[in-house]
Amino acid sequence: MEVLVLPTPADVARRAAEVVLEGLAAAGRARPEAGPVLGLATGSSPLGLYAELAAAVRSGRLDLSRATGFALDEYVGLPVGHPQSYREVLLREVCRPLGLAPERLHVPDGSGRTEAELVAAAADYDRRIRAAGGVDVQILGVGANGHLGFNEPGSSLSSRTRVKRLSDRTRLDNARFFDRLDDVPTHCVTQGLGTVLEARRLVLVASGPAKASAVAAALEGPLSASCPASVLQWHADATAVLDEEAAAQLRNRDYYDASAAGL
Ligand code: GLP
Repeated sequence: MEVLVLPTPADVARRAAEVVLEGLAAAGRARPEAGPVLGLATGSSPLGLYAELAAAVRSGRLDLSRATGFALDEYVGLPVGHPQSYREVLLREVCRPLGLAPERLHVPDGSGRTEAELVAAAADYDRRIRAAGGVDVQILGVGANGHLGFNEPGSSLSSRTRVKRLSDRTRLDNARFFDRLDDVPTHCVTQGLGTVLEARRLVLVASGPAKASAVAAALEGPLSASCPASVLQWHADATAVLDEEAAAQLRNRDYYDASAAGL
């Protein structure tokens, strides 16, 4: 696991974009016949990173015209086209600015009317990821309670894409995107932690003081379902890109800085 600490959120976005670009280039070398497969997070954390990737597309350094995208999660029960559904968010923040074809954006289906429909669609999502050859680079944020995707504390470390209840903390955190707390869905469909772990490279971005304790638990606490983001420790190619505030509670900081300085 690599931990990179940068002064500001803008530096985090730039450095994380470099890590993603390296990962996509490696994917292109390993499988030149296939377009890259990008795992996409929502939330505010990756927005600066997406803006940096969009700049790379505009300058000709990155071409996502053959790429496929897989979202981490989706709310259950929002009407099609709802501006806060993660499909719409990703169409706005990723597909248009990065030139990713909307028909190659996959988002878990939260529109099922019955539990059976939702469960079947969730299982189908894992099949679709496999059929695409797996995710090359998975972009991640972290919730203030340590959630990854919508895997709330208590999620099985080997879970697959499935329907989950959102915690009160997450609903409160996300209420800022809705008119009222009551409008925030109670359930979601999220890639499981086992699904996320199958991506070939993980890139987590976090900034701001609200993430400091979750980041410390994820990177330096025990590998535990109590902190779903701690699965980063189990992955062979994971990079966390943090600003000073998000890194404030890390104990092993000197070592990370020395390692980042290179050989
Ligand atoms: C959201 C998403 C997560 C995201 C997290 C943090 O609810 N489901 O994928 O990483 O919460 O959000 P933010 O980046 O806005 O702090």
